[in-house]
Amino acid sequence: DPELVAAGENVFKKCKACHKVGEDAKNGTGPLLNGVVGHPAAQNADFKYSNGMKDAAAGGLVWDHEALTGYLTKPRDYIKGTKMSFAGLKKQDDIDAVIAYLSTFD
Ligand code: HEM
Repeated sequence: DPELVAAGENVFKKCKACHKVGEDAKNGTGPLLNGVVGHPAAQNADFKYSNGMKDAAAGGLVWDHEALTGYLTKPRDYIKGTKMSFAGLKKQDDIDAVIAYLSTFD
């Protein structure tokens, strides 16, 4: 749905201070987010994840729609000890949109 993707690009402005996507994306404060949707957490070997995130990944966390909804709603409740300093997105529409946007980057 191109409209959802476009809405998600707008929501992603809230993430951009820490996350990059696209061809030339690099890690910053947060890991680059190419290929994150639908895949196991904490797969970026060059990024220093928190122990909380590493434990979640070791426990089998996969970034499907449900997990991303949980994490993006309240990061610090969903993953104890996460170092993502982000309060969370309040609207499910915004979450759905940003997931649709992120899905466009392998
Ligand atoms: C981790 C998404 C905002 C900093 C992550 C991960 C996702 C994500 C999916 C897990 C990546 C992985 O497993 O490789 C988002 C989205 C945002 C957002 C969609 C906006 C809606 C932010 C902001 C910051 C930030 C604003 C910085 C202030 C981080 C950090 C991690 C992370 C440091 C690693 C967490 C850890 O190791 O515990 N983010 N993020 N993020 N994000 Fe964000």
